[in-house]
Amino acid sequence: MTDEGQPISVDEDVYIRSPSGFFAHLRETQPVAAVQMPGYGRMWVVTRYADVRAGLADPRLAKDRHHWPTGPRTWPSQAVNLHAHMLHRDPPDHTRLRGLMQKAFTPRRIAQLRPRTLEITEALLEDMASAGGGGDIVDLLTRFARPLPITVLSELLGVPAADRTWIEVAVVDYDDRKDRERITRDLAVYFTDLIAAKRAEPCDDLVSALVRVRDESDPGDDASGALTDTELLSGVFQLVMAGFDTTVNLIASGTLALLTHPEQMTRLREEPSLLPAAIEELLRYTNPLNHATDRFTVTDVTIGGVAIAAGEWVLLATSSANGDPDRFPDPERLDFGREPGGHVSFGHGIHYCLGAPLARMEAQVAFGALLKRFPKLSLAGTPEDLRWRPSSLMHGLEALPVRLT
Ligand code: HEM
Repeated sequence: MTDEGQPISVDEDVYIRSPSGFFAHLRETQPVAAVQMPGYGRMWVVTRYADVRAGLADPRLAKDRHHWPTGPRTWPSQAVNLHAHMLHRDPPDHTRLRGLMQKAFTPRRIAQLRPRTLEITEALLEDMASAGGGGDIVDLLTRFARPLPITVLSELLGVPAADRTWIEVAVVDYDDRKDRERITRDLAVYFTDLIAAKRAEPCDDLVSALVRVRDESDPGDDASGALTDTELLSGVFQLVMAGFDTTVNLIASGTLALLTHPEQMTRLREEPSLLPAAIEELLRYTNPLNHATDRFTVTDVTIGGVAIAAGEWVLLATSSANGDPDRFPDPERLDFGREPGGHVSFGHGIHYCLGAPLARMEAQVAFGALLKRFPKLSLAGTPEDLRWRPSSLMHGLEALPVRLT
């Protein structure tokens, strides 16, 4: 709170221009603060590493939308229930849903995707080379960082190639908070039809596997082992929403980080075994998400010495935690020699990112192949010329112009 007891207000443009700057300022001045957040309303914003990490795993900070505090809230459609998925649930429903999703989303399925991911990556890099022939500037975001995850995710799910472009546009617009009502309805109709098609003609893809999980689960079994039709639809929707734009941001912002830290890029080229550690550092440094998804207090809690009453919204600023000097010395330095891990870019606790192995695999393939294919890759223009997307949650570039040779 401010001295007058009012929540801190942040101008939307100021926040979107530099969420990390805003959160860093809070971390230094008021690490647990009531803030009027653009697009969300009043929330308690938590910015220190120790508090954020503890908050992510704290069962007193709940998510289930059936128990949301009352009061004004900006939220997409209530009409179609696409929000019955695990990220908006608490135990025991969360435990049940995560277990069922994991039956289909297996490490084996992800490992099997690696060779195909490399093929897709190399084809995209070839196309980019043709587009940039003669030293022209190309947009690495639209030619590489975006098509790679949407293609891999679509193949994993079993989304036909012809439908990928409109889904890509829909997800980006949704994240940028454009016409969410219509987009939610369109995606609900599309995935309902896709599920029906996979049920009629199962294939070796994730949606078919999830339909099998749904149809083999026993609805009579007091819901402990069952997956409902709504949860199946919502679960597929969430995989698309959670798995696409996040990975785009990691690849695009990660490339920017490499281009603006040539000594680290050279180090990675000379020592490719550093790649897994480099991806962890890029996750920490680039923050594909500004913050975790929102939570609310189900009882009175004290965070970082600040008392918060039951029924309040809480925002855990993961990007600020990743930049906390108490946890990461000299946090502004990109350093592939840093002890890997510890970042909270994939969250922590029971909601820890289900897709982390997929995202890591895609990033390893993408950066490995990109550095090999374009030894002279450089930024066209300056970092100050780049524009960031007008999203509160997503931390992503609008475009990334590069020179290939
Ligand atoms: C760089 C890429 C990614 C990042 C940075 C990321 C980040 C996150 C974070 C921070 C959470 C936890 C949110 C919270 O606690 O509020 C989360 C959860 C989740 N993510 Fe990811 N994610 C990425 C890629 C993916 C991919 C590729 C998929 C799947 C296709 C995926 C699926 C999920 C799911 C299903 C959850 C919910 C887990 C649960 O509630 O138990 N994510 N992700």
